[in-house]
Amino acid sequence: MSAVRLDKYLAQSGQRTRSEAVRAVRAGQVRVNDVIARDPAAKVKDGDVVTLMGEVIGDDALQYYLFYKPSGVLTAARDSHAQTVMDLLPEALSRRKVLPVGRLDKDTTGLLILTNDGTLAHSLLDPKRHVWKRYIARVEGRLDESDVRAFEEGIQLSDFEAKPAKLAILEAGDETSIGEVLVREGKFHQVKRMFGACGHEVLTLHRAAFGPLTIPEGMQPGDHIKLTDEQLSLLRAAVASEETHA
Ligand code: URA
Repeated sequence: MSAVRLDKYLAQSGQRTRSEAVRAVRAGQVRVNDVIARDPAAKVKDGDVVTLMGEVIGDDALQYYLFYKPSGVLTAARDSHAQTVMDLLPEALSRRKVLPVGRLDKDTTGLLILTNDGTLAHSLLDPKRHVWKRYIARVEGRLDESDVRAFEEGIQLSDFEAKPAKLAILEAGDETSIGEVLVREGKFHQVKRMFGACGHEVLTLHRAAFGPLTIPEGMQPGDHIKLTDEQLSLLRAAVASEETHA
């Protein structure tokens, strides 16, 4: 929903006719995000919570966002010490319980999906669903074919065996290299630990894709967009299909 007039929003919800909606607003019966709205022409935006005589009405549908996470913020709802991704998003999203799907480390950048659709979130994180995530990692040392094979075979870590993943070497240098990794699990520090097990410390990590979704051109760290119907369909199809490459 793009911004829509409050009286129209109330009328569209089926709760009041347009003229009744105007009267309800003028009578102080309508609140937007807990503040009494006095102007029927005020704009209601995505994520705003509108109540009529205390009852939430209107657009309470499930919501889906793509966020370009910058480095240095936690993927958490709120934290008393550090900045979180929710601090960088409109408050209306927290009110609607639109939360990140999975986590990126504080220093990892890139694509984060946020939703209040718990069922889809759960499926997206389920390793059995084969939803691939694509990362670009700059690592210490020279990546070579032995690393590619190790990722292909799966890597035994101290507490679990990372399932087979795909590593493509984008740049190989004596000091640092750049690798593109496809994984479908999302265990804590998984990509960093897989590289670590191969003797390469990760210097920077960026998630470029989650299933079929990539960061749209021109989007900057800290930006968010609402998923289009097409993007959402692709995401749902990714969860439903056997194997989805990022
Ligand atoms: N793997 C990691 O090690 N860190 C992330 O943030 C995401 C995947």
